[in-house]
Amino acid sequence: MNRKNIRLVYFSPTHTSQKIVQGIANGMMPVEVTHCDLTLPDPERANQVFSEDDFVIFGMPVYGGRIPAEAVARLKKIHGKNTLAAIVVVYGNRAYEDALLELKTIVAAAGFPPIAAGAFIGEHSFSNSEFPIGAGRPDEADITEAEAFGQRIVAKLNRLEDADRIDAVEVPGNFPYKDGIPPSDAATTTNDAACTMCESCGFVCPTGAIGYTDRVITDNEKCILCCACVRSCPSEARALTHPPMLKITTWLFDNFKEPRKPETFI
Ligand SMILES: Cc1cc2nc3c(=O)[nH]c(=O)nc-3n(C[C@H](O)[C@H](O)[C@H](O)COP(=O)(O)O)c2cc1C
Repeated sequence: MNRKNIRLVYFSPTHTSQKIVQGIANGMMPVEVTHCDLTLPDPERANQVFSEDDFVIFGMPVYGGRIPAEAVARLKKIHGKNTLAAIVVVYGNRAYEDALLELKTIVAAAGFPPIAAGAFIGEHSFSNSEFPIGAGRPDEADITEAEAFGQRIVAKLNRLEDADRIDAVEVPGNFPYKDGIPPSDAATTTNDAACTMCESCGFVCPTGAIGYTDRVITDNEKCILCCACVRSCPSEARALTHPPMLKITTWLFDNFKEPRKPETFI
């Protein structure tokens, strides 16, 4: 395999997508792996360009059967120059619908021919101890599967060295895509009595929705409900309390108990 520089590009507020792309990279036994983490707001990352010597593994979570709009905006600033890529979506044990097709279309248009694709499972962002959804995923078996997928990607790259044309991988999904998540005033909230003002919630927020006065202030319009703040809060002061979201959480818990299996396309 000529392409030895493995580049991981991901948006991963609760780290499950990051774990999967790292697992795939480990399976490829790379000389070098670099991370391009699109999760936090960081204008310096804009306009990155990857070369033909790179192999990029894109990892994105599924929000409402699509790629999160925030992640799409950040992805569109990244470009390849005929840079072969694998695309991966990670979903919370319900469904990934049009997300993989959407990711394929975005990266292909940006100069990354996608030669392999996968849909893996991560613990649902809304999952909690009372209503666990995909709890503990990705688990050991998922990571083993991710590594095996990495090995199959290497084998495909070796085969492609002699190929005179490269066909993009086929993935499930429909055009036009299903509607994305509509804007709403739903946001995660802080229990002021439990909050110690450690500010870890603001540090991990992908959209800069959290600020501080003498208490935590949340900009509901910016919150994308990713729950990074909930997971990072050391005093369990941050939570998803919005009643319609709690209803969705119990619906997910009631209806998606059967563990789904990773799917790969290569
Ligand atoms: C707003 C929102 C919408 C989501 N929509 C879906 C969905 O349509 N299907 C699904 O199975 N999981 C869905 N999830 C769960 C995430 O896809 C899942 O938790 C994923 O592992 C998160 O990735 P991350 O850990 O990289 O942030 C949603 C999560 C959020 C926050």
